[in-house]
This record gives sequence, structure tokens and C-alpha cells, in this order.
Amino acid sequence: MKPASVADYRELARRRLPPMFFEYIDGGSYAEATLRRNVADMEAIALRQRVMRDMSQLDLSVEIFGQKLSMPVGLAPVGMAGMYARRGEVQAARAAAEAGIPFCLSTVSVCSVDEVAAAGTPPWFQLYMLKDRGYMRELLGRAKAAGCRVLVFTVDLPLPGARYRDVRSGFSGATALSGALNTAWQGMTHPGWSWDVYQNGKPHTLGNVQSAVNGGRRVTDFLGWIARNFDRSVTWADLDFVREVWDGPIVIKGVLDPEDARDAVKAGAQGLVVSNHGGRQLDGVRSSISALPAIVDAVGSDLEVFMDGGVRSGLDVLKALALGAKACFLGRAWAYALGAGGQPMVEKMLGTIRSELSTAMVLTGCVSAASADKLLLDVAS
Ligand SMILES: Cc1cc2nc3c(=O)[nH]c(=O)nc-3n(C[C@H](O)[C@H](O)[C@H](O)COP(=O)(O)O)c2cc1C
Repeated sequence: MKPASVADYRELARRRLPPMFFEYIDGGSYAEATLRRNVADMEAIALRQRVMRDMSQLDLSVEIFGQKLSMPVGLAPVGMAGMYARRGEVQAARAAAEAGIPFCLSTVSVCSVDEVAAAGTPPWFQLYMLKDRGYMRELLGRAKAAGCRVLVFTVDLPLPGARYRDVRSGFSGATALSGALNTAWQGMTHPGWSWDVYQNGKPHTLGNVQSAVNGGRRVTDFLGWIARNFDRSVTWADLDFVREVWDGPIVIKGVLDPEDARDAVKAGAQGLVVSNHGGRQLDGVRSSISALPAIVDAVGSDLEVFMDGGVRSGLDVLKALALGAKACFLGRAWAYALGAGGQPMVEKMLGTIRSELSTAMVLTGCVSAASADKLLLDVAS
């Protein structure tokens, strides 16, 4: 199949990846109501078609923290991408650089921040607050030294949400023996992935936390360490600790409530991502796109407001801009494309998003992404 839309990359990833990795990407928490809502609420928004306006000059670019993005899109932090394609984070970072947009590296990436930075452009760096503050300090220092400028501090994961699909697929909760047998079986039945990732994509460790996990050999050893080390005691005061180590822009990721957004401003953040972690944490919360307008009203003039969750096309990007986001982040869209075929597929997917966004801008009469506003929407929707 030649992929034309994000749904097609999803299908290709489903065929190529062992079920434990496909389900990890595709799934959400509990009954997945929020995961579905993210997509359904985005779909329900109607764009307002306008015609016969000179749309020969379009400007898709936006400027964020002094960096010009060729379009208002970034790649959200996605854990373990190095298990979806050989050295997956490096491949995705290169695709993002090629497209002129930021790539945000997860704390729980296979490739370390040094490896990704050395392969091209230093990424934005995503941080989970872990109990071991000494280690956090060291990790932030490494990201800084690697040239990362923007820190994305994820605040909606003081503990991991329950993802039933991961239990069913054997990704989590298996004993060492049954886990190893299951992995071997899934690998054997997915030879393309086995050759690319299992044989040629080693080491399969989590590069950023490797030195803290003594004796870890498999990705699941690392995930166990991380799960034990998430810090539930974290508060806004901890941002002071981060600020001591980080002098660049700090973006708070995982805000759904305007009061939390105001607290993020008070705590000195430069940006926030309206996000429910792609429906992977507290199932039942509202969709990101429905949470966006109230947050923009509350803090939109104080810091940069971004959103993620349910963005599956360039049309969705324009809807988010119309509701006040400065840019959106793609999560599953790039993870599917990476799983479908590495960097070339991520580049192709980003090309699709760009051309869909252009089409939507032309047919709504929006000449520049930076000036998108509510007038692009059909108010009856
Ligand atoms: C497989 C997967 C792994 C993720 N890992 C992380 C992570 O390590 N850190 C983080 O802040 N968010 C993580 N997220 C959440 C994404 O950054 C983003 O919020 C979410 O995917 C957006 O929703 P979407 O997938 O509908 O685009 C992950 C999402 C997925 C699908």
C-alpha cells in the first residue's frame, strides 16, 4: 500500500511492528474514551470555506522562541522510538530537521540526547521528574551540553496510567521468561522489524537513563526502573530546581485546566502544551482541542500555548491554530510513520501534513499561519 494519510501509516506500522510495540503506540489508557474524544472532537469542528480571494502567496511559518518553523508543527516526545525503527529517534530527528520543524526527544528514548544531537540538530528535550534529583541534574546538564535549548517538562505523568492493551500484548506485566518468549515469537513473526531493529538497531537500552539503571539489559528493565522512579510529590515549586539548571525556555506539557495554566505562568514557564498525553493517562478527561480555547483565554498573552492530541492531518493543525494554539505537536502520527518505514516515511508524512495545511489555508482564506484565528471556523459547529 502506498500511504496517503496518517491512517495509512498506522496500517503499515500495524503490519510491520510486533504487536507489543504497535499496541503500545496505538493504545490509550483504560477504556480509551479520551483517546477517541481527542480525534472525534477535532473532527467535529467545521472549517469555514471562503472563495475567490487571492491565495497565491501563503506563509506557513511561525516563530517560536526565536526559532523559525517552516510550519506550525513539531514532533512530540514519544518514548522508545528506537524500538519502532533502527535508531528511531535519530531518524525522526533528521526528518524533522529536513522539514524545518522541531523534534522533541523523550526522556525515555532509546537513543540518548548526545546521540541524537550528534546526528544533526540538537532536539528539544522532554523531562520527566524522577525521584533522584541528583540524576535529574546530571541529565539536564547533559541535554544542555548537547545543545538543547528548549525544555519540555511533562507534568501529567506523576505515575503511569494503566494501559490494558500493553498487558494483553505482553508489553507490560509479563514475567521475565514469558516476556522473553513472547518477544522472541513476535520478533520471528515480524522479520522486517527483526532485521532492522532487533539485529541492527542495538543497543536496546534507554540511552538517557542508562547510567542510572544498573544491570538493565532489556527495554522492560528500564521501564520498570522509570515506573519506580516517577515522583508523585512534584509541585510547581520544583520548577525552581529545574530553572537552576536550565536557562532556556521551559514548556509545561500536560495542562488541561485554565487554573493550572495560570499556575504555570506564575511559576515562570515560557510555554505550555495543552495535552492529555494522547489519552494515555487519565481516561475520561476532556479532549485537548476542547480544553484549548479556555486556556488561550486565560494565559494566551502570557506565554506560548501549544496543543497536542488527535492531530491527524494538516486540517487539524489549522483548526488548532484557529482556536488559539501557536503550533501543534504530532505524537502517534510520526510514531506510525517511523514504524512504517523510518525517516523516509516520517518525511513523507510531514509532506502530507504540509500540503493538507496549505489546502486548508487556501480554502479558508488564511494567508499566514501566524494570523490564523476563530474566523476560520464555521461558528455553527
Ligand atoms: C507511544 C507514545 C509514547 C509517548 N511517550 C511520551 C513521552 O515519553 N513523554 C511525553 O511527554 N509524552 C509522551 N507521549 C505523549 C505524546 O508526547 C503526545 O502528548 C501525544 O502522543 C499526543 O497525542 P496524539 O498521539 O494523538 O498526537 C507518548 C505518546 C505515544 C503515542
